[in-house]
Amino acid sequence: MQTQIRTAERTPFSLDDDQSYARWRANKLAVAGMPEAVVIQDPGELAAKERQALLRGAEARNFTLFRVRRPAMDIEASLRAFGRRLGLLDLDQNLCAEDSGITAITVKQTNTDKPYIPYTDRPLGWHTDGYYNAGHQQVRAWLLYCAQPAAEGGTNDLFDHEIAYIRLRDENPEWVRALMAPDALTIPRNTEQGQQIRPDHSGPVFSISPTDGSLHMRYSARQRNVIWRDDADTRQAAAFLLDLFQRGDDHIYRYRLGPGEGVISNNILHRRDGFRDDPASGNKRLVYRARYYQRLPAATEY
Ligand SMILES: [Fe+2]
Repeated sequence: MQTQIRTAERTPFSLDDDQSYARWRANKLAVAGMPEAVVIQDPGELAAKERQALLRGAEARNFTLFRVRRPAMDIEASLRAFGRRLGLLDLDQNLCAEDSGITAITVKQTNTDKPYIPYTDRPLGWHTDGYYNAGHQQVRAWLLYCAQPAAEGGTNDLFDHEIAYIRLRDENPEWVRALMAPDALTIPRNTEQGQQIRPDHSGPVFSISPTDGSLHMRYSARQRNVIWRDDADTRQAAAFLLDLFQRGDDHIYRYRLGPGEGVISNNILHRRDGFRDDPASGNKRLVYRARYYQRLPAATEY
């Protein structure tokens, strides 16, 4: 109990503590510009220096880009080892994950009633991963690794969710309060072939981890199949975010992953452009993804 109280006192995310927030905000906004990719020789055998550089980058921006010098033959095994070495242990098993928990995202048929957008060449809107998961299975980190880019397109936009929090709180702290309500955002149940495979999930957009005081965001910009809490502050906060994505922000980073490149992240906001594959020339987009229930550890913990 004592620990929890201390954590709550330290957090810049308390709406009653403007001083901690101001200090934290200044440090956050001082980190600007696209980060350099951390070069990794072999993700299956991550060196201590490489690991430090990855974790330090994630501490500053909640994501780090990396570039692999020698891609492994068994990509999935090497990515699993990579995650483990970074301190990420629990893989989120989803509907379409292969057995290993590493998901190959590429254009393919899925056994679902409607085409599942990640497995098409269509654009993917702003979201954090696992926004449709139950409260106790929130995705706190993910990694993406590009084995093969598309012939054209497929660029990602990346936006630290803590910066989104700052933009909202600076505009109106009541919007942040509204988004922390336990029923701020509901994802209605999902049925496949008449069978319910997921119940309704209500939860906050922003929440603070009781274990480490970090900020978590659960969000989807989709307009259908999401239910925002029906009050003025929630509606205005949701509209503000959509407008922010339209207007742009100098902390939104646009990056097209090349072969052997990837991102690790504390589940920041992201989206993907549509793309065009050209399988005849071998340019068929293939990106591996892993999701974790825990966040990347602090660099200093190693
Ligand atoms: Fe995603």
